[in-house]
Amino acid sequence: MKPKVFIAKPIPQEVEDFIAEHCDYKIWKGNGPIPESELWKEIADVEGIMTPKGMITEDFLGHAPKLKVVSNIAVGYDGFDIEAMKARNVIGTHTPYVLDDSVADLVFGLILATSRRIVEFNQYVKEGKWNHHLDSQEFFGKDVHHATLGIIGLGRIGEKVVRRAKLGFGMNVLYHNRSRKLELEEEYGVLYRDMNALLEESDFVVVMLPLTEATYHAIGQEQFKSMKRDAVFINCSRGQVVDEVALIAALENKEILAAGLDVFEIEPVLNNNPLLKMDNVITLPHIGSCTEDTRFDMAMKAAENLVAGVTGQTPPNIVKELQ
Ligand code: DGY
Repeated sequence: MKPKVFIAKPIPQEVEDFIAEHCDYKIWKGNGPIPESELWKEIADVEGIMTPKGMITEDFLGHAPKLKVVSNIAVGYDGFDIEAMKARNVIGTHTPYVLDDSVADLVFGLILATSRRIVEFNQYVKEGKWNHHLDSQEFFGKDVHHATLGIIGLGRIGEKVVRRAKLGFGMNVLYHNRSRKLELEEEYGVLYRDMNALLEESDFVVVMLPLTEATYHAIGQEQFKSMKRDAVFINCSRGQVVDEVALIAALENKEILAAGLDVFEIEPVLNNNPLLKMDNVITLPHIGSCTEDTRFDMAMKAAENLVAGVTGQTPPNIVKELQ
């Protein structure tokens, strides 16, 4: 008999076919996230679940007594209650590597869009306001090439950002990380800085931290005050690593120049969030990995982890805290 699994979101047919070869499966194909009451029914007798950024809580695990593996279709697994999963011997997996380039591309999209005010001027042209030659300072932006980029949290995605910054834009790159990355320092000439020095020296500050208890609100009032007054702040990691109230104040008080945000403390972002009203802030709906190819690769990787976990093999991408 094939092991039973549940897939909590629609996935490409080829990935579904792969799962079907190995598992007896059900899949949620409704619009939006599966309602909790449905989810509890579906997971009651499954050994595996594939879920987008699932909140795997004590409550969730209590509804899935036969569960062996949770395969997260995302690299971030801040929704995992690691202790509860350990206590029940539930394996947790994620999808590293396959999204690194796509997220790094988006980081650069936000760097360019904020500094050269692309969204603002797109509106300007489309609203028919371009009726004189542009010789005025009011259209000035900020150069990206050869500027100083500071990366807080130099993991796999940060490394891809470094390549783009160094090879594509000739930038001076600083980083702050728990551990030194000597190979990257050697290969690309990136320079390690303590947090304060990085904030003081960078024209662009990119935060790429995973969300953990230690990184919650790692960037707050004190950090914004240390940044240059014309610094651009970019976050494509998790909203909660930034104290959003402090970010709003820093923008309102002109302590920094602009921000490019793919993530928010509350998602979906609330309509009354002041960030949505600011011309110098670009806001995206958490689309870092959202390209057709990357989402396919993430789904396939998650499927491989799921199948391995329910067929007695070791999944290739168990999260480090559960290895
Ligand atoms: C992830 O995989 O954690 C990204 O945030 C996905 O969008």
